[in-house]
Amino acid sequence: MKTNDRPEPTVFVIFGGAGDLTWRKLVPALFDLSQVRSTPANYSIIAVDRVPLSDEKLRRRLHEGVNRFSRFGKAKEAEWNQFAKHIHYEQGDFKKLQTYQALGQQCAKLERQWGAKVHRVFYMATPPVMFGVIPNYLGKAGLARDREWARIVVEKPIGYDLESAKALNATLSANFDECQIFRIDHYLGKETVQNILAFRFANPQFEPIWNRRYVECVAITAIESVGVEHRGGYYDRAGALRDMVQNHLMQLLCLVAMEPMVSFEADEIRNKKADVLHAVRPIYRDAVHQCVVRGQYGPGWIGGKKVVGYREEPGVPPDSQTETFVALRLFLDNWRWQGVPFYLRTGKRLARQATEIAIQFRGVPHQAFPAESTLDWQSSRLVMAIQPDEGIVLHFQAKFPGPKMHLRSVQMQFDYQTAFDASSPDAYETLLWDIMRNDTTLFMRADQVEAAWRLLMPVLDVWAAAPPSDFPNYAAGTWGPEEAQSLLAQGHSWPLPAELADICGKKGKDE
Ligand code: BG6
Repeated sequence: MKTNDRPEPTVFVIFGGAGDLTWRKLVPALFDLSQVRSTPANYSIIAVDRVPLSDEKLRRRLHEGVNRFSRFGKAKEAEWNQFAKHIHYEQGDFKKLQTYQALGQQCAKLERQWGAKVHRVFYMATPPVMFGVIPNYLGKAGLARDREWARIVVEKPIGYDLESAKALNATLSANFDECQIFRIDHYLGKETVQNILAFRFANPQFEPIWNRRYVECVAITAIESVGVEHRGGYYDRAGALRDMVQNHLMQLLCLVAMEPMVSFEADEIRNKKADVLHAVRPIYRDAVHQCVVRGQYGPGWIGGKKVVGYREEPGVPPDSQTETFVALRLFLDNWRWQGVPFYLRTGKRLARQATEIAIQFRGVPHQAFPAESTLDWQSSRLVMAIQPDEGIVLHFQAKFPGPKMHLRSVQMQFDYQTAFDASSPDAYETLLWDIMRNDTTLFMRADQVEAAWRLLMPVLDVWAAAPPSDFPNYAAGTWGPEEAQSLLAQGHSWPLPAELADICGKKGKDE
């Protein structure tokens, strides 16, 4: 069923329109949006790139991408043809002013044709080197000026370190106001990630215990069983800390730890999230080795198949020192969270795919049960499963049936698929829709990006100065390097995602 809040006429200009992101993510998401929501009555997708290409050729390629990546499967011919009419190709050099002037003329022509002012979305789906170039040309061509009608979208990586992130933010803000800048972190578009706010702030029963008095520790896990796939070249320069922690894990941390918002205004929510980043206790250089563990996968087995080690992956140097696993222990210095450890973990080629947040509650203040009742004792935990299982599970103690008081850990669960008879939109669908509607809530603000970099810079500096001597230090298909255990305080453990899959009656993807 289509929703009615139809956005105003929009022109999507996609720089890198012949590239992978456009093919794999953007156009499939725009197509899916056209199927389930009311896309603007008038809209146009202008793909800009350097290669010579006709509208027809581009449409054929994008059609193939939609058939592969649309969440609805293969597109129906008539629906595709209807959608494809909106796609046009424009060959142009991103470093020439004429490219931008031509785009300006095209937008003006569409405005005349449609008899309405149009929203102009400039999407940088290009290699990151272009992020510092395109905004300046848009500015010079006068395409950035209109605060309400022009906006720019930038993908990660937003900088390579604090300095380059600041430089990129400066280039963006020299041409656009902050309210016109949409920095994508696709995790924020996931339904289960948005549900963190709904769960925390739409229910009165959890917020009173969401603090240091009741919470023992929090573990945020985003692990994958896939390796670096075809992205060895990019990944080897980035590594897990830049690729996943600086953005996705930090955003999850913010949502779990932030204070209640006063309203649903974009900046109100973003302010509350920024407060979390500012509260994270700095990781001092001489403490990096105690607070952060890095790892790199060697050969191993995943899903019964032998897989190569990271150093054998295409595009990766055979002596690479890049980390494919990171675990961190952080503390937040504020009233709510003082003294509560936040454990963050991410990695590639681990035993399975799972993204989840586990809140472990403190034990009862007085243990009145006889010792033999509590032999199977497990801490009470609340697990928010982000993917591939989507739901929430509360683990608590219950009496095992029988004459004796014997306690066992049991679960209550909410599973998205069972609860709602609707498939979740892809993250890009949600984010593109918000861009069309000019809603920046789910996008990262400059100060958040910089705060996250500032926090991680000591780690990057210490690592760069002392390359690892033990890489590869975990085998593909395991749970990562043993040292990750050393971050945990006594009585704390990394949650085993497999438990959750069993509860929801599904298994995670083991690619
Ligand atoms: C991307 C990273 O941002 O997120 C990838 O660059 C990673 O390395 C991916 O695989 C994970 O996203 P998701 O949505 O599959 O968890």
